[in-house]
This record gives sequence, structure tokens and C-alpha cells, in this order.
Amino acid sequence: MGVLTEDMQRVVREQRLGFVATVCADGTPNLSPKGTTTVWDDNHLIFADICSPGTVANLTRNPAVEVNVVDPITRRGYRFKGHATIVDGGPLLERAMAFYRNTYGLSDALARRVERVVLIDVRQAAPLISPVYDTGAKEEDVVRRYVEYYEGIRRQRAETTSKAARP
Ligand SMILES: Cc1cc2nc3c(=O)[nH]c(=O)nc-3n(C[C@H](O)[C@H](O)[C@H](O)COP(=O)(O)O)c2cc1C
Repeated sequence: MGVLTEDMQRVVREQRLGFVATVCADGTPNLSPKGTTTVWDDNHLIFADICSPGTVANLTRNPAVEVNVVDPITRRGYRFKGHATIVDGGPLLERAMAFYRNTYGLSDALARRVERVVLIDVRQAAPLISPVYDTGAKEEDVVRRYVEYYEGIRRQRAETTSKAARP
């Protein structure tokens, strides 16, 4: 087993959303979501550059990267720090694109826009746990609370939309 434990790999594969932090030329942070974030192997994460000019420019200058992947329902996740390599051609890009199309289910429309993928050599990985668990909360209660919370939001949105559509 490499740096990425079984549970880390499970969470990353399940969530399909990583928040990727890079360093801008002026030293300020850049953070943006990547829905193609997934596990490449026991030591590497990967995401596809579909429309990430800032992240890619930053990584070209400075490969330092941190990725956060959190399950918004269980309020648990992981943070991964590492070095990024931009893969813009060759057999690795071909393998990655075959993976995104055939295994990941990336639509053809999006896959056509990918000219490069970013491979992250993870050097450090650590858990992220909501402080709600410090209060002794059980995971099943946290899950129930956030499922209800998100369902409430969806219900409210649906009501607002149907009211707005009334003549
Ligand atoms: C939920 C979500 C998932 C996204 N997934 C990706 C992705 O996998 N790859 C990508 O290049 N852009 C993705 N984007 C779009 C970028 O995050 C967005 O274009 C962002 O402004 C890029 O900023 P950057 O150039 O600083 O990286 C996603 C956006 C959202 C909201």
C-alpha cells in the first residue's frame, strides 16, 4: 500500500470532487473545484484540465499542490499535499483519457475538451474531520441531519421555481 490508504481511495472515488489549491505568481492562493479528481494509483491522484487555466499556469511555475476531498454528508474527508506533473501528451495521457471515457464515464463532449491531465504525486495525506464529532455525535446522526438539510434545500428550491413559473 502506498500513501493512499483504502479509505482515502474510497472517499476520493466516491466524491468525484476535489478542491485544488495552488500558489499564484504573487504568492496568493488559488483554489478551484475539479469534478474529475480521482485515484490513479496507490500514490497518485489525477484530474483532467477541462477549463483550469489558472491552476495549470500555477503548477507549471510551481508544482506544489494541496487537494481537499470531503464528503459533505458524513462531514469527513482527507487532505493531500504533493507535487503535480502536467501530462499533455504521450502514452500516459492516452491511458488517462481511456480511463476517463471508459471507467469514469466522462462524457464525450467533456473528454474532447481535455488536452492535459494533472497527475499528483501525493507526499502527505491526513484526515479532515468536522468538529461536530468532537461533541460525541455519531456518524449516523450527522448523516441524517445533513441528508435532511440538503433535501430541505432542494424542496425549497423546487417550491421557489414552481412559484416563479406560475402566471
Ligand atoms: C463542481 C465543479 C467541478 C469542476 N470540475 C472541473 C474539472 O474536473 N476540471 C476542470 O478543468 N475544471 C473543472 N471545473 C471548472 C473550474 O473549477 C473553473 O473553470 C475554475 O474557474 C478554474 O479555475 P482555475 O483556472 O483557477 O483552476 C469545475 C467546476 C465546478 C463548479
